[in-house]
Amino acid sequence: MSTLTRDEEFLLQQARDAAKHAYCPYSHFAVGAACESEIGIVKGCNVENASYGLSCCAERSALFAAVSRGAKRFTRLALSCTNATADTRPETGMCCGACRQVMAELMPQNALVIIDGIGTFTVAELLPKPFLLLGETNSQKEVLP
Ligand code: THU
Repeated sequence: MSTLTRDEEFLLQQARDAAKHAYCPYSHFAVGAACESEIGIVKGCNVENASYGLSCCAERSALFAAVSRGAKRFTRLALSCTNATADTRPETGMCCGACRQVMAELMPQNALVIIDGIGTFTVAELLPKPFLLLGETNSQKEVLP
């Protein structure tokens, strides 16, 4: 895994911290995410439901919470699946397709997604050809310098 900057390491630590609040009585798979934008860092965790399909992933919890607080320009998101260990397959720590689609809508395509123990990817690397209806979503913009 590539070396993280101090800011990236801090964001990842926030994601790990968010996983402590995961509500995952069904999967016992605790996930935390932290997204960075012009309003600062907003954290989220996975929240499951007895009606399994209603469960929400950590990435979407974090992004939706940030949007709800007024965030518009996302720069980075860190993700930590605390149950994914060195002896599980790397795919176990990756983000799901639904979250990639949401990232592609809300985040610039060259925004970074830092995945604990795996590596750093751009949003476009995670989902090269997302479904989009509008031309003016964040996904069309580049990260601000
Ligand atoms: N999960 C996430 O929070 N993010 C992902 O990208 C993959 C899956 C959660 C959903 C569910 O609560 C648990 O992990 C097992 O699938």
